[in-house]
Amino acid sequence: MMSRSTVSPLVGLLLIAGLISSASAARTADWKPRSIYQTMTDRFARTDGSTTSPCNTKAGLYCGGTWRGTIDHLDYIQGMGFDAVMISPIIENVEGQVYYGEAYHGYWPLNLNNLNSHFGTHQDLLDLSDALHSRGMYFMMDTVINNMAYITNGSDPATDVDYSVFTPFNNADYFHPYCKMNWSDPAIAQRCNTGDDKVVLPDLFTEHEDVQQLLIKWANDAIKTYSIDGLRIDAAKHVNPGFLHKFTDGVDTFMTGEVLEGAVSIMEDYQSNYINSLPNYPVYFDIINAFTNGSTPLLPKTVEDMRVAIPDVNAMVSFSENHDKPRIASFNEDMAIAKNVLVFTMLFDGIPMIYQGQEQHLKGDGVPHNREAIWLTKYDTEAELYKLIAKLNRIRNHAGYLGSDYFEDATHPIYQGSSELAFTKGVQGRQVVMVLSNQPSTSGRYEIDLTVSYNAGTNVMDVLTCNNYTVDNQGMLAVDMDKGEPRVFFPTKYMDGSGLCGYSDSNITLEMLKTHRTSTSAGTQFTSGTGVATVLLAVVTSIFVMFL
Ligand SMILES: *[C@@H]1O[C@H](CO)[C@@H](O)[C@H](O)[C@H]1NC(C)=O
Ligand SMILES: *[C@@H]1O[C@H](CO)[C@@H](O)[C@H](O)[C@H]1NC(C)=O
Ligand SMILES: *[C@@H]1O[C@H](CO)[C@@H](O)[C@H](O)[C@H]1NC(C)=O
Ligand SMILES: *[C@@H]1O[C@H](CO)[C@@H](O)[C@H](O)[C@H]1NC(C)=O
Ligand SMILES: *[C@@H]1O[C@H](CO)[C@@H](O)[C@H](O)[C@H]1NC(C)=O
Repeated sequence: MMSRSTVSPLVGLLLIAGLISSASAARTADWKPRSIYQTMTDRFARTDGSTTSPCNTKAGLYCGGTWRGTIDHLDYIQGMGFDAVMISPIIENVEGQVYYGEAYHGYWPLNLNNLNSHFGTHQDLLDLSDALHSRGMYFMMDTVINNMAYITNGSDPATDVDYSVFTPFNNADYFHPYCKMNWSDPAIAQRCNTGDDKVVLPDLFTEHEDVQQLLIKWANDAIKTYSIDGLRIDAAKHVNPGFLHKFTDGVDTFMTGEVLEGAVSIMEDYQSNYINSLPNYPVYFDIINAFTNGSTPLLPKTVEDMRVAIPDVNAMVSFSENHDKPRIASFNEDMAIAKNVLVFTMLFDGIPMIYQGQEQHLKGDGVPHNREAIWLTKYDTEAELYKLIAKLNRIRNHAGYLGSDYFEDATHPIYQGSSELAFTKGVQGRQVVMVLSNQPSTSGRYEIDLTVSYNAGTNVMDVLTCNNYTVDNQGMLAVDMDKGEPRVFFPTKYMDGSGLCGYSDSNITLEMLKTHRTSTSAGTQFTSGTGVATVLLAVVTSIFVMFL
């Protein structure tokens, strides 16, 4: 267990109070109130702080981003209100290049016992972990457990892999025999090789006890050494699911596993049997459909299916961009579309994960164009979407502060028009209602009448514009749609403490939070001291940051 020498005074206070368990053992309940910023280490920030160093995304070569650079840009991330960061896989990757590039992304593992020296040193990674924890932020590591990587550069992947180069899996017995991938056949997808004939990804024999124990031990060691709070399991769909279950049992941390499938039933199967958190791909596909493809019916249907079928939709990870998928602006560059997508992503169920560059409205399409160097945006904190994310994190934290049941409640669709959607989340009386549109910013003004679950006469505020509305005596809310802008409603009488629309949150003391939290969380899942303290920590941290 490493020490946290730079722990902030408030965090220290909580630690002394004995309320916080080890952050490195953070579990699902500790993660639910958080929101994650996903970096791609090579493309996020350089040690030299350059904002002009060129990066040719198409060439796919290392562009010079480092852990040190990430440390130097945590203000930028925290300024949006994020309280967790996920970085690229940390281990040594294969060197060398094929026609589409090098291992800058970190997904071509060579040696599990070494770090990727392009990203920095052991001390740099320790310092990044410390820097995050001293801000009350969680540290998530992207992780490859499905395969290693070998550059064949066109020669036969069935015969030309030299397994002795891998550590610790240094002979062919640790791997499934080579076989050709069929992405739509689950059994083959788990047993055969991802990658291609330039860079083959030898598939670990994860049904074998030796392979299992080595991977579990490696992960536990890495978590302990670097005080890691959570993992993303890359290509979890391609891992033998029995092993996935063993891995989540044997490795003491929160983890979310990438199963790139659109069917709710597949998520249900995985969550029930193998891993309790997954990036929410079914909802992702319908976000794309609803906001970039003009089709409103599927998203509310999937939201409803999720609520009914999924054991814990709030344990899943909500996202609308990542390093594998075309950016929203590559489908549609309209700013209103980008805003609606972000509002839904951040305020829907689960733990939001925003991929670096979404806040700067980057528009790279598929891999590798969606892996732009963020420094070229100059880390613009005045960018419209940057400021929007900060507001969304505030209202989300505030709703959770008023009752942690907010992070347990599942979103309901309440309205579907030809180009509008509305959803509600949270308990009666202090729910967050989002009204979304897929109209472009050139569209005009019109009104829709929503039946909302607030009581008649309730005053609500659109926290994005700070405009006031009143629910009429029929329980209807007349919403002015204009220029495709999203609306996020919250009862005006509960705005105090939100830090939004001129409402202060600077007068909330730790003592008040404790009292408040304890009294409102009775009967909810946050009955243990640990869960309570974690939410407190998140709230206290965000207040603390305001003073910086
Ligand atoms: C792969 O082949 C290309 C030419 O086709 C060459 O430029 C490159 O250096 C080769 N890479 C390795 C690792 O041998
Ligand atoms: C891949 O798997 C699917 C589903 O089992 C099957 O229908 C299809 O024929 C397979 N494709 C090839 C090229 O074998
Ligand atoms: C967008 O809509 C078109 C036409 O309805 C459909 O063919 C396509 O699959 C949709 N795209 C996505 C990403 O859903
Ligand atoms: C909305 O209502 C609040 C509370 O009554 C008030 O302080 C604020 O000035 C109002 N905002 C606008 C834009 O009228
Ligand atoms: C914060 O201060 C304002 C104005 O001084 C006050 O009205 C409000 O009740 C305070 N908030 C809390 C949570 O005590």
